[in-house]
Amino acid sequence: MTKKLFIKTYGCQMNAYDSARMADLLAPLGYGATETAEGADMVILNTCHIREKAVEKVYSELGRIAKAKRGKPDMLVAVAGCVAQAEGAEIVARAKAVDLVVGPQSYHRLPEMIARHARAGGHVLETDFPALEKFDALPQAVSDTGVSAFLTVQEGCDKFCTFCVVPYTRGAEQSRSPESILAEARALGARGARELVLLGQNVNAYRGTDEHGRDWSLARLIGTIAEIPSIWRIRYTTSHPRDMGDDLIAAHGDIEKLMPFLHLPVQSGSDSVLAAMNRQHTADDYLRLIDRLRAARPDLAFSSDFIVGFPGESDADFEATMDLVRRVEFAQCFSFKYSPRPGTPAAAAKKQIGEAVKDQRLQALQKLLLSQQDAANERAIGKVLPVLFEKSGRGKHQVIGRSPYLHPVHAEGGAGLIGQIHNVRIQARTANSLKGALLESLPA
Ligand code: 5AD
Ligand code: SF4
Repeated sequence: MTKKLFIKTYGCQMNAYDSARMADLLAPLGYGATETAEGADMVILNTCHIREKAVEKVYSELGRIAKAKRGKPDMLVAVAGCVAQAEGAEIVARAKAVDLVVGPQSYHRLPEMIARHARAGGHVLETDFPALEKFDALPQAVSDTGVSAFLTVQEGCDKFCTFCVVPYTRGAEQSRSPESILAEARALGARGARELVLLGQNVNAYRGTDEHGRDWSLARLIGTIAEIPSIWRIRYTTSHPRDMGDDLIAAHGDIEKLMPFLHLPVQSGSDSVLAAMNRQHTADDYLRLIDRLRAARPDLAFSSDFIVGFPGESDADFEATMDLVRRVEFAQCFSFKYSPRPGTPAAAAKKQIGEAVKDQRLQALQKLLLSQQDAANERAIGKVLPVLFEKSGRGKHQVIGRSPYLHPVHAEGGAGLIGQIHNVRIQARTANSLKGALLESLPA
């Protein structure tokens, strides 16, 4: 490798996947990964537009990169991801150091954009939504992968929640063909991945068509990936409650490799807020769905996303959210203050909630969610859990992995354990993780 490539990734797991694929794509051009922008020949910021601060962070990072570029004027600077899609030419107007702007559906065109820039100079922008062209154009070879690897199966969203930019930045729902996903799953397994996390903005809305014209649901896809011997664990994220099909619910009981942890965003526990958000489900629909999932797999651990301070949210609405949380008992959650996003319907709503109220509600919700997370971690103490080890820990002779329930687990042991599943007796917990002692090996 002769040229240094620095990629900084913001936002969701799909961006992490996209960053890895961009690195794969640029490797044949001689680019190899480096850890800092200073001295890099190319810098890519793979950006997120989901909440306000994310955009501001990108612009301040671009300020720092502009300084690094002063010492290395031929450094190529690219902005990729959802801010690139949403802001387009605005970025080059605001940040002069930027050479390339590429949306999440067009990054397979990066080599061609680099060539165009080399020929003609100036800015090169690509923010089209060419349907699934990206997945056909990306290289088949998968670069070095971790023990747990992301695999995008679906992209985009047709739900149009009134707070969300995703349908505008990632485009309409599209599913990759089962054949191309299975080929990538096998390639990842051959490279050492033992867990696959199937990604999609609405992953459970997956509906792929195979070469015989037959439709595949996510449940069928998971069932088929589960037949690949090198893949031991399967997860998927993010799901929408409305797309939780009967076969997917059943899969949680039937497919052993499908891990008992489900991220199922609900956003609010108030029916009027849910309606204003255009979520297309009620709080009761969500609770019944949780019951059905627990009936299929009693030890299923749940996580969710919440937004507080959505326009018009009253104290009673917020209490309904707290009530829903108490009823479900989540293992781990994400919660956010509503952030008006340009171009989304809720941003134009009249009854915006003041910052102080948002702060107060977020604090109260996070306190409750943290107490549930602590309780879930506490319940793990004394249990024996099969842990898939992923990396070395900070301490010498320490390894870190995940339980089936996605808890990070630390144990004493050498790097030779990485990529293996071992039983661990859980002894203690810290704020976000568990500590335990290794027991006997499990057969793969
Ligand atoms: N403001 C606050 N949170 C948001 N999310 C999405 N859009 C917004 C917004 N405008 C949250 C939702 C979603 C998660 C990925 O980010 O909870 O599930
Ligand atoms: Fe956003 Fe998820 Fe709603 Fe799609 S389903 S609009 S990604 S919150």
